[in-house]
Amino acid sequence: SGVERLGDMIAAAKTIVPFTGAGISTECGIPDFRSPGGLWTRNRPIPFDEFVASQDARDESWRRRFAMETTFAAARPGRGHRALASLYRAGKIPAIITQNIDNLHQASGFAPDHVIELHGNTTYARCIGCGQTYQLDWVKSRFEVDGAAPDCTVCDEPVKTATVSFGQAMPEDAMQRATELSQTCDLFIAIGSSLVVWPAAGFPMMAKNCGARLVIINREPTEQDDIADLVIRHDIGEALGPFVGN
Ligand code: OAD
Ligand code: ZN
Repeated sequence: SGVERLGDMIAAAKTIVPFTGAGISTECGIPDFRSPGGLWTRNRPIPFDEFVASQDARDESWRRRFAMETTFAAARPGRGHRALASLYRAGKIPAIITQNIDNLHQASGFAPDHVIELHGNTTYARCIGCGQTYQLDWVKSRFEVDGAAPDCTVCDEPVKTATVSFGQAMPEDAMQRATELSQTCDLFIAIGSSLVVWPAAGFPMMAKNCGARLVIINREPTEQDDIADLVIRHDIGEALGPFVGN
């Protein structure tokens, strides 16, 4: 079966780089973006330039974030996260590349420096001008007092979740490290991503072009199934559950 073949490939690999999308966290209660019921089927994304230009857009963006707070705060690592953490502890995974913003790879045991966050992190906030970080509780209490999303106390520019919005620059250091990992691993496993958002979706292809074997685990077909060495079109928790160790 696909899972047995994956086991053989994992056993044979020296350096495995996982690349994760929202599908790994759906069993933790966090909706993905493009499945039925996904975030972008319910809400239009707010592009970065709108967030910068409009107080209304900032208020709406923060209202959406606070509406998700119970979901994010309650989420615990799922079987996929735990399987990857086991392989990390076993020394097979030098670092993980993720599009996710939910902090669950860190929560499963990855050192923060070994989680390459291409799209940032939604568990804290950052000023878009000077980079000053803020806790969400601070943003929430300011929002409650002023009735509007707050600006930075240092430079007066807007404060945003520490995530990357459409139209916002990618984090350079993360892009650089993801490139090096993709070019040097011998097994690249894309997990729970539709692979439609670029430049993130370039990494599976880059790894394959640099000689790695490519595995794609996703319930639905993806854009890059045709270049993969193995496609497991299955539930992630079921597919990776057998690799959860101690
Ligand atoms: P998507 O919602 O586009 O894709 C998630 C994929 O996971 C879908 O193809 C689902 O079929 C699959 N899936 C969901 N649950 C699954 C499960 N339990 N088992 C197997 N497959 C499952 O999410 P991403 O590819 O992560 O960017 O989206 C990429 C980027 O688009 C996100 O990082 C976000 C979004 O706009 C930004 O916000 C910048
Ligand atoms: Zn600032």
